[in-house]
Amino acid sequence: MTRNIHSERWAPDSWRNAEARQLPTYPDTAARDAVEAELRSFPPLVFAGEARDLKRHLSEVAAGRAFLLQGGDCAESFAEFHPNNIRDTFRVLLQMAVVLTFASKLPVVKVGRMAGQFAKPRSADTEEQDGVSLPSYRGDNVNDIAFTPESRTPDPERMKRGYMQSAATLNLLRAFAQGGYANLGQVHKWNLDFVGRSPWAKKYAQVAERIGEALSFMEACGLSPETVPQLKGTEFYTSHEALLLGYEAAMTRQDSLTGDWVDTSAHMLWIGDRTRFEGSAHIEFLRGVINPLGLKAGPSLEPDALLRLIDILNPSNEAGRLTIITRFGHDKVEAHLPKLVRAVKREGRNVVWSCDPMHGNTVKSASGFKTRPFDRILAEVKGFFAVHRAEGTHAGGIHAEMTGQNVTECTGGAMAVTDEALADRYHTHCDPRLNAGQSLELAFLLAEELKAEMKQREQRAA
Ligand code: PEP
Ligand code: CO
Repeated sequence: MTRNIHSERWAPDSWRNAEARQLPTYPDTAARDAVEAELRSFPPLVFAGEARDLKRHLSEVAAGRAFLLQGGDCAESFAEFHPNNIRDTFRVLLQMAVVLTFASKLPVVKVGRMAGQFAKPRSADTEEQDGVSLPSYRGDNVNDIAFTPESRTPDPERMKRGYMQSAATLNLLRAFAQGGYANLGQVHKWNLDFVGRSPWAKKYAQVAERIGEALSFMEACGLSPETVPQLKGTEFYTSHEALLLGYEAAMTRQDSLTGDWVDTSAHMLWIGDRTRFEGSAHIEFLRGVINPLGLKAGPSLEPDALLRLIDILNPSNEAGRLTIITRFGHDKVEAHLPKLVRAVKREGRNVVWSCDPMHGNTVKSASGFKTRPFDRILAEVKGFFAVHRAEGTHAGGIHAEMTGQNVTECTGGAMAVTDEALADRYHTHCDPRLNAGQSLELAFLLAEELKAEMKQREQRAA
């Protein structure tokens, strides 16, 4: 019988005794240790109380009374660091949230894949180009995407730049969320010029119009953004894949009030599909911090293994602690999801079910680009909702790779991106993202599906 590391005493460095996949090999470990020591002295990016607030909101999602909207870049990059990019992604997330709340009457919990989403798992350790083999790109906080030996050598100094960019991004997001930009009275102004040509922009304008009317009515009754803080701003949380464990451990601090350990690099952290195996250093590390966690679940995850992982990550069955982010592919969701949902329901485990319709639907285009056909993304979302309707469980959330930029990375959508057009504005550092128009279109589909779930719930209650 092999030793079970997850049943031993947890410590901030107990993951170092477990099997760690997907971590970079730094040529100079002394330099790495020095950077990690320096990071330990840097201010936390988020506070324990904020992570607990998000967990409380997610417990509402687990109970079927709210919806989780999680989205942003596949990989943030140093090159694309610009206030307009942050603003535009934030704005599309706000638009999506408005569409969802308006249709379903459910509060939407907003979580960005932002302010720390740098480290990437890769399917191969090396990449070949013209007979030359170099280490794979692993995200901007590890190495540089340029295909040269210098660029691809993991450099620990990059972790500090990742921290600084996360801090500045988070600062701007906090200002956008609370400083007036997210005031619901501005709902008309969040629309983007280039989305204006899409049929979904017209639909969004109609929703904004009706919200405007409701706000005027409420104002006449004495309720305005000045008196109701929920109208004046919004709560916005950050998340990323907790992949680069040296960085995450350096950002983990003990809450002086409770003694709890908190990973202060983001509010929510998730464990990727490649690092979620039992005995994994990533599982070991994250079981000990109190943040809300995500767990990616792909086709290879069987119900028994999922239940064991739930036991390890959420032994007290706390609602809001764990979000299962499923990513099967449009043609696999209906075969794989029901058995997981049934097992979790049978055992009475509190989880949020969220759908990542991106990672199981990646294909290579004829022109050689890594892309995702938009209709497959929508098909996986529909399959996800259909399974939950059949099982009587709540389709609790969406996890999307998206940007507010007008990129051409996923094919299809109302303003159809063709195979040939992919080269026009293909900017991603890793996986293909939905552009602003495709994101809005996805939100309208989600709104329809959520409405159907609410209707079914009413009928069952009657
Ligand atoms: C990701 O979310 O970018 C990712 C790599 O996902 P997964 O672990 O599900 O493949
Ligand atoms: Co990705």
